[in-house]
Amino acid sequence: MKIGIIGIGNIGGTLARKLAAAGHEVRVANSKGAEAVRPFAEEIGATAADTRAAVSGADLVIMSIPLPAIAKLPRDLFQDVPAGVPVVDTANYYPGMRDPQIAELDAGEVESVWVSRQLGRPVIKAFNNILARSLTQLGQPEGTQGRLAVAVAGDDAAAKQLVMGIVNEVGFDPVDGGPLTESWRQQPSTPGYCCDYDAATMRKALVAAVKGEAPAKRDQLLEKMGALGPNATHADIVAMNRSLNPLA
Ligand SMILES: NC(=O)c1ccc[n+]([C@@H]2O[C@H](COP(=O)([O-])OP(=O)(O)OC[C@H]3O[C@@H](n4cnc5c(N)ncnc54)[C@H](OP(=O)(O)O)[C@@H]3O)[C@@H](O)[C@H]2O)c1
Repeated sequence: MKIGIIGIGNIGGTLARKLAAAGHEVRVANSKGAEAVRPFAEEIGATAADTRAAVSGADLVIMSIPLPAIAKLPRDLFQDVPAGVPVVDTANYYPGMRDPQIAELDAGEVESVWVSRQLGRPVIKAFNNILARSLTQLGQPEGTQGRLAVAVAGDDAAAKQLVMGIVNEVGFDPVDGGPLTESWRQQPSTPGYCCDYDAATMRKALVAAVKGEAPAKRDQLLEKMGALGPNATHADIVAMNRSLNPLA
């Protein structure tokens, strides 16, 4: 498959590496042009591109950049990308910690619905509710007992199916998170968010999410991370995330 990946940080870079290793034709881009990503592209067996070349002719686009940067992408970036090509949104909103306040999101607009409006096309939300370290290190072959899950939300059944296949390919059980309007269930500080759950528990967690509850929990994270201290381990962070929403 021809896969264009915009953003080669913790999430986009890991997906690019895994998907290139799996034999896909991967093109990677950041905000600085093809030359800036060439060393990384060469290291992982991908092609260096700018954002336009990354999406051009792709069968799948993965967009893994900070949420506020999405609003600054060229308005016509996806103009020539056919409607059937899935565009994956991995973004999360952390106002006051990492991101500037965005009024529509503060008013309760679902994050990926906002992203979709910025891009002027539908998106599939995936890889947002797994920690970068889990994505990099904890993938397992299909069928492995306790394999971790990643939620996938979106409206186009075929696009969602394709993205669920990619989740499986990079080592995780895909769990259908419903339509994009329901993707608030996998946003920061919801029960299934970055908790290293298997598929059955992820399904339970998505159902257990209560609309409007997560932002207040998210906004306490800085304090909670501070309490964990600078030497917090991956297990500490997962335990903290789980403690925000204990599941029965
Ligand atoms: N880290 C996690 O554990 C985690 C987990 C799940 C989801 N996420 C979400 O996934 C997204 C990416 O996270 P990350 O941790 O991978 O971020 P990151 O490590 O900071 O990487 C971000 C990437 O986006 C690129 N970028 C920034 N602005 C851009 C623009 N305008 N056009 C093109 N490329 C641009 C950056 O390159 P340049 O700045 O050099 O252009 C960089 O390659 C975020 O929205 C984050 O909330 C993160």
